[in-house]
Amino acid sequence: MKFIRLKTNPGDPGAYIRSLVRSMPPWALLLCSVLLIAVVSCSAPSRRTIAPAGMVKGAEPVGMETCAGCHEEEAREFENSSHGRYFIPGEEGEEVMACEACHGQGSLHLEVGGGVGQYIINPSRNPEPCLQCHAQTRVAFNLEYHHPVREERLTCTNCHDPHGDIYLARGMRMGRENAVCMQCHREQTRPRVFVHEALREGCTVCHRPHGSINDKLLKENDNNLCLKCHAQLSTPGTVLIGDFSHTTRLAEGSCWSAGCHTAIHGSDINPHLRY
Ligand code: HEC
Ligand code: HEC
Ligand code: HEC
Ligand code: HEC
Ligand code: HEC
Ligand code: HEC
Ligand code: HEC
Repeated sequence: MKFIRLKTNPGDPGAYIRSLVRSMPPWALLLCSVLLIAVVSCSAPSRRTIAPAGMVKGAEPVGMETCAGCHEEEAREFENSSHGRYFIPGEEGEEVMACEACHGQGSLHLEVGGGVGQYIINPSRNPEPCLQCHAQTRVAFNLEYHHPVREERLTCTNCHDPHGDIYLARGMRMGRENAVCMQCHREQTRPRVFVHEALREGCTVCHRPHGSINDKLLKENDNNLCLKCHAQLSTPGTVLIGDFSHTTRLAEGSCWSAGCHTAIHGSDINPHLRY
C-alpha cells in the first residue's frame, strides 16, 4: 500500500483534492473530478493514494527512505521544495510515495541496482506522472494553441524545477519567469531602445504559458488584452488612450494587428511600439 498525505491537514483525505481544485473553472472541475475519481478509486478506502498503480509495470513501491539511500542529494533538495511541503513521510508501517509519485514504483529499479533508463520514469522525458496530478495543466496543453509538450519539443522541466528550490519565488522558477522564456525566445526578450513596460510584469500578463484558445498563446485576442492596463477614457463620441484619440482606430482591428502597435514587445525606432 502506498500513501501520501497533506502536511496542512494530514487526517483529511479530501484536502489534497480540494487544494487541487481550488480556483479551477467549472468546466475544468468536471473533467478533473472524473480523473481524480479514477485515481482515488484505486486507493485504500481510508487514505489518498497519490500515484496511480502500474506506472512502472510489475514494480512495487519502496518508499522515499529507500530512494534517499542512493539519491541523497535529490532527497535533501526535495524536502524543501514546493512538492516536498505537500508530501510528508507517513506514519510507521506506511509506504510513502513522494519520489515515486513522479518516478513510478521503484522496486525493479532497486533490483537491478539503479541506473539510467532502468525501470524508473524520468519526467523530463515523460511528463505523464505530472499530468496525472495536474489535470488542469493537461487540459491547457490540449488546447488548440499550446507549447509543444505533447509533440515532445519541450517539457515541464524547461520551465519548472522538479525538485524545486524553495528560495525561488513560488518554489519553482517563476521568480525568474522572463529569464525562463528568454532561453528560447530571444527576439521578444532582447534589450530595446523603447521597452514596453508591460514586460516588467512578466510574459504571463499577456500569455498563457501552457496553452490557450487564442493564437500566440494570448490570454485575450482582442483589445481587452491591452485595455486592462491602458485606461480608456471615453467622452461621448471619442475614445482616448494614452492622450491620443483612438476613436476611428479601434474599429480597424486589435491594437497590434491593425498595423499600429506591431512591435508589441518593444521597439528600437518608435516610442509608440511600432516597427
Ligand atoms: C541501489 C541504489 C539506488 C536506489 C535505492 C535507487 N536508485 Fe535511482 N539510480 C541509481 C543509479 C546508480 C542511477 C544512475 C544515475 C546516477 O548515477 O545517478 C539511478 C538513476 C535514477 C534516475 C534517473 C533515471 C533516468 O533514466 O534518467 C531516477 C529518476 C532515479 N534513479 C530515481 C530513483 C527513485 C525514485 C528511487 C526510489 C524508488 C531510486 N532511484 C532508488 C541507483 C539507485
Ligand atoms: C514533482 C515530481 C518529482 C518528485 C516528487 C521527485 N522528482 Fe526526481 N525528478 C523529477 C524530474 C522532472 C526530473 C528530471 C530533472 C531534469 O531532467 O532536469 C527528476 C530527476 C531525478 C533524478 C535524476 C537526476 C539527474 O541528474 O538525472 C533522480 C536521481 C531523482 N529525480 C530522484 C528523486 C528522489 C530521490 C525523489 C524523492 C526524494 C524525487 N526524485 C522526487 C521530478 C520529481
Ligand atoms: C502526486 C501528485 C503530484 C505530482 C505527480 C506532481 N505534482 Fe505538482 N503539485 C501537486 C500539488 C498537490 C501541488 C500544490 C497545488 C496547490 O497548491 O494547489 C503542486 C504544485 C505544483 C506547481 C506549483 C508550485 C507552486 O509553488 O505554486 C507546479 C509548477 C507543479 N506542481 C509542477 C509539477 C511538475 C512539473 C510535475 C512533474 C515533474 C508535478 N508537478 C508532479 C501535486 C503533484
Ligand atoms: C513554457 C514554459 C512552461 C512549460 C513547458 C510548463 N510550464 Fe507550468 N507554468 C509556467 C508558468 C510561467 C507558470 C506560472 C503561471 C502564472 O503565474 O500565470 C506555470 C504554472 C504551473 C502550475 C501552477 C498552476 C497554474 O497553472 O498556474 C502548474 C501545476 C504547472 N505549471 C505544471 C506544469 C506541468 C505539469 C508541465 C509539463 C506537462 C508544465 N507546467 C510545463 C510555465 C511552463
Ligand atoms: C525550451 C524552449 C522554450 C521555452 C523555455 C519557452 N518557449 Fe515558448 N515556444 C517554444 C516552442 C518550441 C514554441 C513553438 C514554436 C513553433 O511552433 O514554431 C513556442 C511557442 C511560443 C509562443 C507562440 C508563438 C507563435 O508564433 O505561435 C509564445 C507566445 C511563447 N512560446 C511564449 C513563451 C513564454 C511566455 C515563455 C515563458 C513562460 C516561453 N514561451 C518559454 C519554446 C519555448
Ligand atoms: C503586453 C502584452 C504582451 C507581453 C507582456 C508579452 N507579449 Fe508576447 N505577444 C503579445 C502579442 C499581442 C503577440 C501577437 C503579436 C502578433 O500577432 O503580431 C505576441 C506574440 C509573441 C510571440 C510570437 C512571435 C511574435 O513575436 O509574434 C512570442 C514568441 C512571444 N510573444 C513571447 C513573449 C515573451 C517571451 C514575453 C515575455 C518576455 C512576452 N511575449 C510578453 C503580447 C505580449
Ligand atoms: C501589464 C500592463 C500592461 C499591458 C497588459 C499592456 N501595457 Fe502597454 N504599457 C504599460 C506601461 C506601464 C507602459 C508605460 C507607461 C505608459 O506609457 O503608459 C506602457 C506603454 C505602452 C505604449 C507606449 C506609450 C506611448 O507613449 O505610445 C504603447 C503603444 C502600449 N503600451 C501599447 C500596448 C498594447 C497595444 C497592449 C496590448 C497588446 C499593451 N500596451 C498592454 C503597461 C501595459
